[in-house]
Amino acid sequence: MQKEVQALSKLQHKGIVQLYEYFPHPTKEVLCVVMEYLAGGELYEYWCRFPDRKLPEAELKHIFRQILLSLEYCHGKKVIHRDIKLQNILLSRQVDEVPKDGMNSGVKVKLVDFGIFGSNGGRVGEKQTAGSLKFMSPEVLLGKTESTPKIDIWALGCILHALVLGCFPFADKNPEVLKEKILKRDI
Ligand SMILES: Nc1ncnc2c1ncn2[C@@H]1O[C@H](COP(=O)(O)OP(=O)(O)O)[C@@H](O)[C@H]1O
Ligand SMILES: [Mg+2]
Repeated sequence: MQKEVQALSKLQHKGIVQLYEYFPHPTKEVLCVVMEYLAGGELYEYWCRFPDRKLPEAELKHIFRQILLSLEYCHGKKVIHRDIKLQNILLSRQVDEVPKDGMNSGVKVKLVDFGIFGSNGGRVGEKQTAGSLKFMSPEVLLGKTESTPKIDIWALGCILHALVLGCFPFADKNPEVLKEKILKRDI
């Protein structure tokens, strides 16, 4: 949680969850964090609501553009998220009906969960195997711990693939097989 506070203190952007305040718990050894409440749920759940899990082009552009701009901002601040996935992108408000062709919902999406973030070029203490396997780049799988924007860009590619085609570029129930697929670029 301290890492999360460290990252969020550096970031102020409409596409990133806002940190309001934090303070030590009076009796337990934990840090209490107050942050913006995002009422619309995870992008993962939203994605599942579309027919064949494919977002119509207007909604895709509307959502993906926001994710790109938020990540560009993070990278400009030398913050590498390292755990970009559909579950760590939240909708700011509930969308009653998913939009059809030619329309977009107008919903805002925000990045959360900076708990394993890395500093650009940094290596220390960053969990190399944390994050979700489906979105993990080959170099991270091979144990390279250096934080570079490329790690997040790979995950972005996986998200784009999912939102456009309705499935992940690399998937397998067996994590070992999934790792092999990612390493061999066997889409
Ligand atoms: N600011 C928030 N507003 C609403 N829901 C949130 C918020 N932050 C996290 N959540 C929900 O809690 C889940 C877990 O939080 P997260 O920060 O991703 O921690 P972790 O994945 O490390 O357990 C998120 O995927 C999301 O569903
Ligand atoms: Mg998370």
